[in-house]
Amino acid sequence: MPCTLSILLIHTLLSLLLPLTLAQTWTSCNPLNGTCPADTALSTNHTFDFTLAQPGNTWNLTAGAISYSPTTGAAFTINQKGDSPTIQSKFYLFFGVVEVWMQAATGKGIVSSIVLQSDDLDEIDWEIIGSNTTHVENNYYGKGNTTDAVARAKWYPMPGANSTDNNNSSASSSSPQDGFHNYTTSWTQEKLEWYVDGSLIRTLKYEDANGGASYPQTPCQLRLGIWPAGDPSNNNYTVAWAGGEVDYKKGPYTMNVKSARVTDFSSGKEYQYGDRTGSWQSIKTIPGNSTSQETLSKPPEKSLKQQFEGLSKGGKIGVAVGVIGAAVLALAGLWACCAIQRRKGRKEAALADAAYERDTAELLEYRAQGPKGWEKI
Ligand SMILES: *[C@@H]1O[C@H](CO)[C@@H](O)[C@H](O)[C@H]1NC(C)=O
Ligand SMILES: *[C@@H]1O[C@H](CO)[C@@H](O)[C@H](O)[C@H]1NC(C)=O
Ligand SMILES: *[C@@H]1O[C@H](CO)[C@@H](O)[C@H](O)[C@H]1NC(C)=O
Ligand SMILES: *[C@@H]1O[C@H](CO)[C@@H](O)[C@H](O)[C@H]1NC(C)=O
Ligand SMILES: *[C@@H]1O[C@H](CO)[C@@H](O)[C@H](O)[C@H]1NC(C)=O
Ligand SMILES: *[C@@H]1O[C@H](CO)[C@@H](O)[C@H](O)[C@H]1NC(C)=O
Ligand SMILES: *[C@@H]1O[C@H](CO)[C@@H](O)[C@H](O)[C@H]1NC(C)=O
Ligand SMILES: *[C@@H]1O[C@H](CO)[C@@H](O)[C@H](O)[C@H]1NC(C)=O
Ligand SMILES: *[C@@H]1O[C@H](CO)[C@@H](O)[C@H](O)[C@H]1NC(C)=O
Ligand SMILES: *[C@@H]1O[C@H](CO)[C@@H](O)[C@H](O)[C@H]1NC(C)=O
Ligand SMILES: *[C@@H]1O[C@H](CO)[C@@H](O)[C@H](O)[C@H]1NC(C)=O
Repeated sequence: MPCTLSILLIHTLLSLLLPLTLAQTWTSCNPLNGTCPADTALSTNHTFDFTLAQPGNTWNLTAGAISYSPTTGAAFTINQKGDSPTIQSKFYLFFGVVEVWMQAATGKGIVSSIVLQSDDLDEIDWEIIGSNTTHVENNYYGKGNTTDAVARAKWYPMPGANSTDNNNSSASSSSPQDGFHNYTTSWTQEKLEWYVDGSLIRTLKYEDANGGASYPQTPCQLRLGIWPAGDPSNNNYTVAWAGGEVDYKKGPYTMNVKSARVTDFSSGKEYQYGDRTGSWQSIKTIPGNSTSQETLSKPPEKSLKQQFEGLSKGGKIGVAVGVIGAAVLALAGLWACCAIQRRKGRKEAALADAAYERDTAELLEYRAQGPKGWEKI
């Protein structure tokens, strides 16, 4: 089958060239409702510097595509309807600190987000609306409980929004869309703290979250992404929450992330739910070496460019001929492929986007419906 062969060839070429896996669907095993695989522990602290390197194989690209720049790091861009590029860590942290340096995207209806989320839907959020240049929002959820989500979503002025009370040269402007800002979340068994540019803006104590029942307390993955919450197809409340309808013609809209410093307060190989309570006391840490830690402690692989430059002239020609040949073969094969395949691919991409919208937007949708209508839509 020429289709299968050329797709295989292209797939191989892509897997050589791209460090990230393409369009993932989201794992949806809720440990409160059955047995799920254990969560890979980060078990260390690590700074992902997106100006130096791409996130590599400790992250999954779950939607869209990310580009990289040595000055502004990872760029998450919405070019058109349906775009919502997002990366998600493969590792989990079980309490810890996350410091993300981000320049939020501009634009009505565009949401730049930093999300910690667990398998049983504990969640800690930063959500920055593109059209709001003075305030940032944050929120939390325990076990997916969306009751009173609107009351929990809180807006805070950027420190220094009024003038000279921010003498910080690293954060030159107080607008989230202007320059990079330090969004730090500190998460322990006792309390959650949200900081912007070194200022503590919100504290949540365990007991103040529905007596602890709604306190995020299970191992979380980190997700960085941009979402067009103000897409005209979304419900009015979501659109209003996001500052209005997205005007795709005024795009592209880009969220930039320079770095993410992640500290895991727990250690071990994996974190496993011991029962179906979702309490932190029920989480078992499986002893052993964390695969994420091992991956991260390896010296960075030489980039393809460096490997290529390390070759002799003959070797270079050989590689070039091989790559070009393979590409020509693959493209020729693909050309021969029927349109059905292409349509199928498009459908798969649409499905992946739909899955993204469903999973990521679900809570946004809830919270944007206003204080009354919390029925799931
Ligand atoms: C638990 O499983 C049941 C049956 O499969 C399903 O209907 C329900 O939505 C699940 N609940 C959660 C929280 O995943
Ligand atoms: C965490 O980072 C600090 C530097 O900030 C380093 O000294 C320390 O060894 C790290 N801890 C672990 C467990 O990697
Ligand atoms: C990341 O992507 C891989 C490959 O598709 C998938 O098997 C895995 O479940 C994903 N990992 C996480 C932690 O989401
Ligand atoms: C930004 O958010 C704050 C708090 O919700 C609100 O008072 C303000 O009007 C918003 N600004 C814009 C431009 O939407
Ligand atoms: C969900 O949250 C609400 C408000 O915080 C609380 O009253 C309710 O008991 C919670 N539900 C569960 C199942 O914990
Ligand atoms: C800026 O001034 C307004 C009105 O005086 C005040 O409500 C707000 O808290 C101030 N913001 C900061 C960051 O100090
Ligand atoms: C910023 O600098 C001014 C003038 O030097 C000083 O009065 C003020 O206390 C400083 N603010 C902070 C937060 O350091
Ligand atoms: C400036 O910002 C950095 C990074 O957020 C922080 O470590 C430092 O304490 C801040 N300094 C001031 C004076 O706010
Ligand atoms: C970012 O903010 C956190 C919390 O205030 C602080 O601990 C950290 O040092 C800041 N990062 C930098 C690079 O200044
Ligand atoms: C949303 O707004 C449109 C136009 O203003 C209106 O026709 C529609 O009924 C609204 N839908 C809801 C669910 O409020
Ligand atoms: C963990 O790694 C260390 C070396 O880094 C090794 O000595 C040890 O045997 C490993 N432990 C396990 C359980 O694999």
